[in-house]
Amino acid sequence: MSSLPPLKQLIDRFGRSVDYLRISITDRCDFRCLYCMAEDMTFLPRAQVLTLEEIHSLAQAFVELGVKKIRITGGEPLVRKGALQLLENLGRLPGLKELVMTTNGSQLGTLAPTLKAAGVKRLNISLDTLDADKFKAITRTGNLQQVLTGIAAARQAGFERIKINAVILKNRNHEEVADLVRFAVDNQLDISFIEEMPLGEVDQHNRSEAYYPSDLIKADLERTFTLLPSTETTGGPSKYFCVAGTLSKVGFISPHSHNFCSTCNRVRLTVEGRLLLCLGNEHSVDLKRVIRAHPGNHEVLKKTIVDAMRIKPEKHEFNIHEQPVIFRHMNMTGG
Ligand code: GTP
Ligand code: 5AD
Ligand code: SF4
Repeated sequence: MSSLPPLKQLIDRFGRSVDYLRISITDRCDFRCLYCMAEDMTFLPRAQVLTLEEIHSLAQAFVELGVKKIRITGGEPLVRKGALQLLENLGRLPGLKELVMTTNGSQLGTLAPTLKAAGVKRLNISLDTLDADKFKAITRTGNLQQVLTGIAAARQAGFERIKINAVILKNRNHEEVADLVRFAVDNQLDISFIEEMPLGEVDQHNRSEAYYPSDLIKADLERTFTLLPSTETTGGPSKYFCVAGTLSKVGFISPHSHNFCSTCNRVRLTVEGRLLLCLGNEHSVDLKRVIRAHPGNHEVLKKTIVDAMRIKPEKHEFNIHEQPVIFRHMNMTGG
């Protein structure tokens, strides 16, 4: 009897190769950013959430299938108990080239050196404004100084690269884009500006009215900075420009104005163990059910993952001017 060839690559029906897995390790967060969540969010009960061992086991299966980059997200990943131990274990997975994290920065003041020691190579830190009152208004519960202290601690800890993520909303922070780039330049950081995506209902602003396209941000920045096109990519959706005369890059993540789906190389694992094939669609496969039904059976798990590539959609269907058709909030996937 001839045995099947080993499964070791993830390719979807559009020929895109998937080598980047984003894992949300908690839906909880100490902030309540108004574009991400409603103010009175209900979080998942413990039994519905993957255990740290299950997350590790799933990550291992993906790496065996050719995943080279894992990004840990939340909610806020660092509020999950045991996150650091998980990171350390993930950092040791043979074949994984890059372990990176997206964080709101609130815990970095104390945890940055431990994270670095655990093997996290790069950090993306959310920072939408440098004004303490606006910061409080956008995050509802956050404290700007705590995050600035966290960013300083991350720089001190010596991560390979730190990127700031700023979601830009018209009439909330759009006038601050040049100040944010100046902050990035002064601190030798990169920065990405993000167009808000309509995920889940939010209650404090109108997403259509707050839409501020990347091209406007770029034009605003070009009054102060010279932006030189860069071919550099991190394997994410940002289109980068070098800020002339500095070490910083400015990226634009433009799901509405410049669709990047044709080069999509990523899938997501939600904290409930759903393999989500696109951020802007609901196509998913329940991997928690598979690992709980077949404990320790990596072959069944890997076959399920390979088969799931067939339902990866061609592109997201976001429309900022209509009611969201995706009811899940961003904290279920961490972006
Ligand atoms: P690197 O390129 O690895 O630095 O990271 P990244 O920019 O891909 O990741 P990050 O977690 O910092 O996400 C920044 C923003 O990009 C978030 O708002 C994400 O929701 C968004 N993003 C990442 N991947 C996708 C995607 O596949 N589709 C869409 N629409 N947005 C994405
Ligand atoms: N649209 C765009 N970006 C969002 N983020 C959170 N919610 C949204 C949204 N609705 C950003 C956060 C963080 C990253 C993971 O996603 O600011 O930087
Ligand atoms: Fe928390 Fe990030 Fe959502 Fe803000 S965007 S509420 S920091 S998960």
